[in-house]
Amino acid sequence: MKDIKALISQMTIDEKVGQLIQLSADFFGTDTELTGPAQSWGLSKEQLSTIGSCIGGKDAATIRKMQEEHLRSDRNKIPMMFMTDVIHGYRTIYPIGLGLSCSFDPELAGECTEMAAKEASAGGIHLTFAPMIDLVRDSRWGRVMESCGEDPLLAAAFGEAQVKAYQGEDISSRDHIAACVKHFAAYGAAESGRDYNSVEISERTLRQFYLPTYKACIDAGVKMLMPSFNDLNGIPSTANPFLMKQVLKDEWHYDGAVISDWGAIRELTVHGVAADLREAARMAFEQGCHIEMCSQAYYRNLGDLVRDGVIPESELDAAVQKVLELKDELGLFDDPFHSADDERGRAMYLSPSHRALARRAAEESCVLLKNDGVLPFPTDLKRVAVVGPYADNKSVIGPWSCKGKVDEAVSIAEGIRELLPDVEVLSAHGCGYLFEDLDKSGFDEAIELAKSADAVVICVGEPAHYSGEANSRATLTLPGVQTELVNAINAVNPNSAVLIFGGRPLDLTAIYDSSRAMLEMWFPGSEGGRAAADLLFGKANPCGKLTMSFPKGVGQCPIYYNRMLSGRPNYKPDGVWQAFANGYLDCGSRPLFFFGEGLSYTSFEYESMTLDAHELTEDDKITVTVRLKNTGDRDGKEVVQLYMHDKVSSAVRPVQELLAFKKVFLKAGESADVQFEIKEPALRFWNAQNQLISEAGEFELFVGYADHRYICDEFTLVK
Ligand code: BGC
Repeated sequence: MKDIKALISQMTIDEKVGQLIQLSADFFGTDTELTGPAQSWGLSKEQLSTIGSCIGGKDAATIRKMQEEHLRSDRNKIPMMFMTDVIHGYRTIYPIGLGLSCSFDPELAGECTEMAAKEASAGGIHLTFAPMIDLVRDSRWGRVMESCGEDPLLAAAFGEAQVKAYQGEDISSRDHIAACVKHFAAYGAAESGRDYNSVEISERTLRQFYLPTYKACIDAGVKMLMPSFNDLNGIPSTANPFLMKQVLKDEWHYDGAVISDWGAIRELTVHGVAADLREAARMAFEQGCHIEMCSQAYYRNLGDLVRDGVIPESELDAAVQKVLELKDELGLFDDPFHSADDERGRAMYLSPSHRALARRAAEESCVLLKNDGVLPFPTDLKRVAVVGPYADNKSVIGPWSCKGKVDEAVSIAEGIRELLPDVEVLSAHGCGYLFEDLDKSGFDEAIELAKSADAVVICVGEPAHYSGEANSRATLTLPGVQTELVNAINAVNPNSAVLIFGGRPLDLTAIYDSSRAMLEMWFPGSEGGRAAADLLFGKANPCGKLTMSFPKGVGQCPIYYNRMLSGRPNYKPDGVWQAFANGYLDCGSRPLFFFGEGLSYTSFEYESMTLDAHELTEDDKITVTVRLKNTGDRDGKEVVQLYMHDKVSSAVRPVQELLAFKKVFLKAGESADVQFEIKEPALRFWNAQNQLISEAGEFELFVGYADHRYICDEFTLVK
């Protein structure tokens, strides 16, 4: 343990401020691959020597060199921290967050995250800006791709698993790195799905749905937190006393470090809540933001704010202490390189075991949306046609894939060729996937090929750069002429399956009727092509379930399963208009695909649900036993989803809420009992007075998803 206090006592005010500044790697004369714009501030070498952390950095060798140079020039010999966005893998890329969440398997997410931590640590990274755990309900928002979807319980479980896996027991170990939960809070609720837009939600909704995911990461011991860009009810998160003081500090007792998002402190002036950078620096600092990422408010002003007596030096010291303690926990005072080693990295990157994990994760993340007996395809075919813009495309790794390389990924056509070496696998592009790709001259070739094939795999979607930060969409259909391509191919060869790639739920209504089989691939990662081949030809059995509802039209957004119960619910089957009910004239109120929905090649039957008691008290529990049978002729996995609905409460509650889930593997013909425990805290909700309470009364309980209630019961909470 370093004597941090003694170290701080020997530092000048400017040196202390330096510890609270994060600059991008290009400031230190090395290339970097970053999301935000690099800026040039005209810093001297001496000024640079005081900087506390760096975002980006090419590889271990470069980072080592930067650290060595830094330690040579820093009078206090304080190592820098190197941070970056390891989002869904470092070099071996696994499915995007939204995809992986469809596995309903936080343990699997933990395995993937551990792999990413090992690779990133070898590459010289000390901390990742992940997990991103913003609850999302609006597919127009590009960053839904990083999230775990629309349910707080599921997203919290994934957040917790990721924090634990990144950090392990000890972040100084060479296999682990520190994590940073983001973006606090409710960034995913941006009005109309437009990135960086205002968020205006009630405290009750915030607490009920949006805050639990961050809290779960904090309870899991996350070392850093990042406030969001948006304003929440009028106050930007970076300087929001309700979020940063009342909730984070006073209620949750968060004791870790806080870093601003890129340029977010400067943006307090753009939001118009700070007159200038000095005021912005004061506001953010006072709300507990320790490190400023890539803008100049702290750098230019924090020292003077202390010298002018506006900020007490003791508070500056406390912030520096937080940063230095994290460096100490990372073991950087003993090994400033955190065992960074390109050679160790190269032995791991895309190694057979890492590829195998990425493949398994991709297989568990894909969701079979429709299957009219087409899939799985038999393997004794003569010719398979793979058509569409994703047929031969290796950009299946998707956006924000850190050091992942497109040319190291397996395309769909490659995956099928490898699986079926004796089958002729031919591909045709058909058309492009950009909005402006309206050229249909490739249709004929694709249609002719489809006609000549025994089976057709149609690979369509949106390009990787249409999702992620600042990539909101006002339409959700397949870009360009892809819808026409799908319909044209389906018309000539009914033995077709459509694979859909993208970072968000797309509006697939216009291809639904013509398509006999639809498989949502998301961005599956480095092993996407192999996973697709396994699933298409029955080597793997789809088991993913959607974690975000798929709208029938952009006008349905935001759309989510755990919506509040309306006084005029529209329960009528889709398309049937019910007067004065809570739906749309032209597309009803149901999504095209629901949260929790996803097919398998086998069939499952819920035989019974038994409760060991029908009354629950505050110190007791109810054990629920669900009897599940695999009634098909294939082994498979099913996600047993347990939902509840509070029949009468003092404030309106959702139509249904996920209470628990378990993923189970059953061999063909096999049955199993799946058990859940219900305790009183799980029934609590935020009432109209913003208190977390439970209320006595009756609760409905069911297994299924959305309005597919396979098996139901009820119990009473007694107080
Ligand atoms: C994003 C963050 C990210 C940061 C650093 C920002 O633009 O909002 O999620 O961690 O850049 O790359």
